[in-house]
Amino acid sequence: MRSTSFEAMWKDLAALGRDPRTGGYRRYAWTPALRACESWFTDEAGRRGLTLEADGNGNAVAWWRPGPLRLEGGVITGSHLDSVPDGGAYDGPLGVVSALAAVDVLCERGVRPSRPLGIAVFIEEEGARFGLSCLGSRLMTGALAADQANLLRDADGTQLPEAVAAMGLEPRFGPSLDLLCDPVAFVELHIEQGRALADLDAPVGLATGIWPHGRWRFTFTGEANHAGTTRMADRRDPMLTYAMTALAANKRARLAETGTGEGSGARATFGRVEVAPNGVNAIAGTVTAWLDARAADETALQSLVDDIMRQAHDRAARDGTTLAVVAESVTPAVAFDERLRARLVRRLGDLPMLPTQAGHDAGILATAGVPAAMLFVRNPTGVSHSPTEYADPADCLAGVHALADALEELLT
Ligand code: GLV
Ligand code: MN
Ligand code: MN
Repeated sequence: MRSTSFEAMWKDLAALGRDPRTGGYRRYAWTPALRACESWFTDEAGRRGLTLEADGNGNAVAWWRPGPLRLEGGVITGSHLDSVPDGGAYDGPLGVVSALAAVDVLCERGVRPSRPLGIAVFIEEEGARFGLSCLGSRLMTGALAADQANLLRDADGTQLPEAVAAMGLEPRFGPSLDLLCDPVAFVELHIEQGRALADLDAPVGLATGIWPHGRWRFTFTGEANHAGTTRMADRRDPMLTYAMTALAANKRARLAETGTGEGSGARATFGRVEVAPNGVNAIAGTVTAWLDARAADETALQSLVDDIMRQAHDRAARDGTTLAVVAESVTPAVAFDERLRARLVRRLGDLPMLPTQAGHDAGILATAGVPAAMLFVRNPTGVSHSPTEYADPADCLAGVHALADALEELLT
């Protein structure tokens, strides 16, 4: 591939869905910003003569098919184009742009695929709009039922089917794995979201698995009242219960850090909070906060969340507030397919192997029985879910070539 193929695509996509005030991306599912990215993908697929197919969930696949049409045994690559609020350029799009560039490499090599190669773009991977990560792949694999999806609402109260219809699309939610042509493998390339590869001085690595993780909604309820006239002793302030819970979560996860390696420890974060009535001179009546928790295994995750909830309830009793906790999603641990990984190592050489704490569509597909693997591209600072997320262009090209090698291995 001429590096210009990657660079030109990267430049075109970079302009879409970026907030000029923050420099971050706001590419939310079923909004004009993400639709612009999807049109970009349609154009790039068309330019290469790939056939685009979509399911009723919002996922799409661009096919590079061998001569006589073959409708099973697909090799799938790709990732997602949606972002977190003020996300970086790489989380998701790097996998999609690299997949298109890898097809260019394979064409230049004169590879004649013996199986269909699909470049998949999954919708709402981040769950930034409807709260559930990997919404598209969960619907595709049946991990999320259509009637549950129908009930999801965004922060403005718009229900998912209405949001889809507002984009002129017809919501037809339901299992759609057949879109992937009975896949024999899914290989997702992604920017690394930590510093493991930087520490190892390696541009590309392979994932071993994904930590179990989930999102819990904490609703702290007290009594809305006047900030000036209410005596301190008379207050039932849910902000205090929330504040102490956020501190307790951080401390509990830090205490779980048993080592510095990629495979140990735990994470707990309150990254989103809503306060009602949200007035400077009013004691809050309700604080709703979302806990994102992750740990190296499921027992450790359960104990982390149980401990945080216990401390929150204890504090609520002291503050005269109440607490309700709802698990919005819990995603079990994923171990990627060892045979597929061994095959990729034989072809790509001895790459570093690392687990990840981030969720991915590859994990949802793996749980549904699709042999899956992930390639990670070095992230020099480890920063992700932020406008400063970055990968060196030379490392991105190393990723494209590693992906092309992996696909060639699986296609021929
Ligand atoms: C996806 O990036 C996640 O939040 O794990
Ligand atoms: Mn992400
Ligand atoms: Mn991602």
